[in-house]
Order: sequence, then structure tokens, then C-alpha cells
Amino acid sequence: MRAAVWRAPGAPLTVESLDLRPPGPRDVVVRIAASGVCHSDRSVRDGTIPHPLPAVLGHEGAGVVERCGAAVTGLEPGDHVVLAWVAPCRRCFQCLHGHPELCEHGMDHAWAEPYARDASGAGVLAAFGTATFGELTVAPEHACVRVDRDFPLELAALVGCAVVTGVGAVRYSARVAPGESVAVVGCGGVGLAAIQGARLAGAAPIVAVDRVGAKLDLARACGATDALHADDDPVEAVRELTGGRGVDHAIEAVGSPATIRAAYDMTRRAGTVTVVGAGRFDDVVGFGAMELMVDAKTMRGCVYGATDPARDVPEMLRLHRAGRLDLGALVSRRISLDGIDDAFAAMDTGEVARSVVVF
Ligand SMILES: NC(=O)c1ccc[n+]([C@@H]2O[C@H](COP(=O)([O-])OP(=O)(O)OC[C@H]3O[C@@H](n4cnc5c(N)ncnc54)[C@H](O)[C@@H]3O)[C@@H](O)[C@H]2O)c1
Ligand SMILES: [Zn+2]
Ligand SMILES: [Zn+2]
Repeated sequence: MRAAVWRAPGAPLTVESLDLRPPGPRDVVVRIAASGVCHSDRSVRDGTIPHPLPAVLGHEGAGVVERCGAAVTGLEPGDHVVLAWVAPCRRCFQCLHGHPELCEHGMDHAWAEPYARDASGAGVLAAFGTATFGELTVAPEHACVRVDRDFPLELAALVGCAVVTGVGAVRYSARVAPGESVAVVGCGGVGLAAIQGARLAGAAPIVAVDRVGAKLDLARACGATDALHADDDPVEAVRELTGGRGVDHAIEAVGSPATIRAAYDMTRRAGTVTVVGAGRFDDVVGFGAMELMVDAKTMRGCVYGATDPARDVPEMLRLHRAGRLDLGALVSRRISLDGIDDAFAAMDTGEVARSVVVF
């Protein structure tokens, strides 16, 4: 099978022929139909998110079950599935305390053994345990969420990361109530999904911030009531839109100290700041000791939208069918696997919401 292999930090991905390992008893082999290109793939590729080499990236994919291990009970060949990059074990402390997205074993399978071998016989890892930048992948049954066979797989793919992350950040982390105000900083795939999540929650105003004008147009199409350019003092502009106080909820979907700090500053006292963006481990955000007390804000990180893929993937598809989410608005371009590096370049210029690899 062909897959885009990542062999060195910053290096382009090379499309190679790999031999997939056979499925274990509880694994399934999935033929990937489509995969979104998320900024987190970019961040692994350039070393922002540490990861062992070589590996096949891609964690926002959907496909068709091709083969099942002998002990698989919930899936059969022909089933359509979305891959989840956290596969909750349902038994660890975090799973039992309402945080399947933080499952202590949710990515064990990603590191346990190579998922494929290259032409020289060397092992290749499945990054995020999903490796959706390849024609086939092998993953535990509980990393696969079955979806209706008539739902377009290239839209379902985006639900595997951007959609559950963005909508979940609003719904499960910030817990936005109807009529509350929301600002979203960064309007890529994740931020645009958060804006749609804010629309779904009945928020007003919904303020979008990005440094690319075209993204602000997309943000309006996804439900933003106001769109601010990042260069035009968005903190001050957000305060002006909210009676001088700031928004009830800010969602940060870039992953830099400056935007995290801006998200904090545009939030009202006692409001919430939800950090979704994935920055570097050694990036530091500064806060005054006194301001933290006086501002009385709640700041929380948010992994995978604090969602449970088994519950929320079908839920997002249902909301799309009901016309309450618009997954198509997130798709900027369809590309082949050979165009994967162009997708990273397009992401750098900020011109696309999502590039979707269609196999
Ligand atoms: N927490 C999670 O579980 C999770 C899941 C998925 C993605 N992420 C992270 O979320 C972030 C967003 O992911 P994405 O795929 O939407 O990325 P993306 O590259 O598609 O979008 C990022 C957006 O931020 C904008 N931007 C960049 N710098 C900015 C600035 N200074 N001010 C305002 N806007 C700015 C860009 O123009 C772009 O529109 C990334 O850091 C990604 O790694 C986290
Ligand atoms: Zn992602
Ligand atoms: Zn667990």
C-alpha cells in the first residue's frame, strides 16, 4: 500500500510502498477513503510536537473496514468508520472519571509496534495510532467509530479531529450557554468548527480573529457575527464589542504564547479561556500573579474537544444532516496523496481551512 512517510523533522513526506502488519485479534484493517490535513500533522512534521521517526502522519480520516481480527465483535468488513486518535480503554482513571479524551492508554497502540515495514524491512510507526496518510491502516477496534454507510466519507473524515475538537471545545470545555459571547482566535479547521459550535450553542456575539482576510470571510459563513484582523488590536476591538468587559468565553485555536495571552486578555473577568491550540512544550505564556487572582478567569486546556469519539462522532454527523453544522464549509480543496506537502504549504499561507486527501 502507498503511504506518505515522514523521515526527518521538517523534511517533505515521501510517498512509498509499505507492507502493513497483519491485524491482531482486536484490530481492524481500514482502507482510508479520505483524510483531512490538520495543523497537528504539520507540528509533528516540523518538530513542534515530539514524535519518533519514521512514521506515517494523518489523524483525521475515515474509510471502510477491510479485515477484522478474530476477536473483533463490533465491526465487520464493509463498515464505514471514522478513526479516533484517542482510543479510550474505558477502564483507566481518566476514562472512569469522565475524560475518555485523556485516556491513559488511548495512544498505547501508536508506540507498541510498527504498523508497517518499508522496502528495506524497517519498521514505520502509525503517528497518533491512525496513520491516515496511507491507503490502508491497522488500528484497534475501539479506535474506529462506525458511521452510516451513506454519509460522505470525505466529510466524515473531518469529524475525526477538527470538528469534534472545535465543537467540543465550545460544548464540553467552555460549556457555552445560549446568549453568551464567544471569541475564537484562529480560524483554521479547528477554529471554524468552534465558530460553528458557538452558533449551535446560540452564542452572540461570535467574534472571529485571524490574520488572513479570506479566513474571516469563511468565519462569517460559519456563523461569526464579527470578524477581526489579528493586526488590528483584536483585544481592544473585542472589548468594544462587549461593553468594555470582554467576552464570556475565548477559544484559542492557534497555539502560540501571543494568541493565548490575547485570548486571556479579550475575556471578561470570571470568563473562561479554552486553549485548544498546540504550542511547543518549551513555549511559555506569562501572567502576573496578581492578575490571575483579580481577574478570576478560568483557563483550561482542551484535548480532542473533551469529547468521547464513540458518542460525538455520530452526533456531529447527525447535526450536519440536520443542517445545524456545515462540514462542507471546512473543505477548501481536495488533493491526492502525492500533493500532501502542498497541503502543508497552503496551511502555512493560511489560505485553506482544510485540505482533504481523497484516495
Ligand atoms: N487540542 C487538540 O486536541 C487539538 C486538536 C486539533 C488541532 N489542535 C491544534 O489547534 C490549532 C489549530 O489547528 P488547525 O488545524 O485549525 O490549524 P490551521 O493551520 O488550519 O489554522 C490556524 C489558523 O490560525 C491563524 N493564525 C495564525 N497565527 C495567528 C495569529 N497570530 N492571530 C490570529 N490567527 C492566527 C491562521 O491564519 C489559520 O487560519 C493547532 O495548534 C493544532 O495543532 C489541537
Ligand atoms: Zn488534528
Ligand atoms: Zn482509558
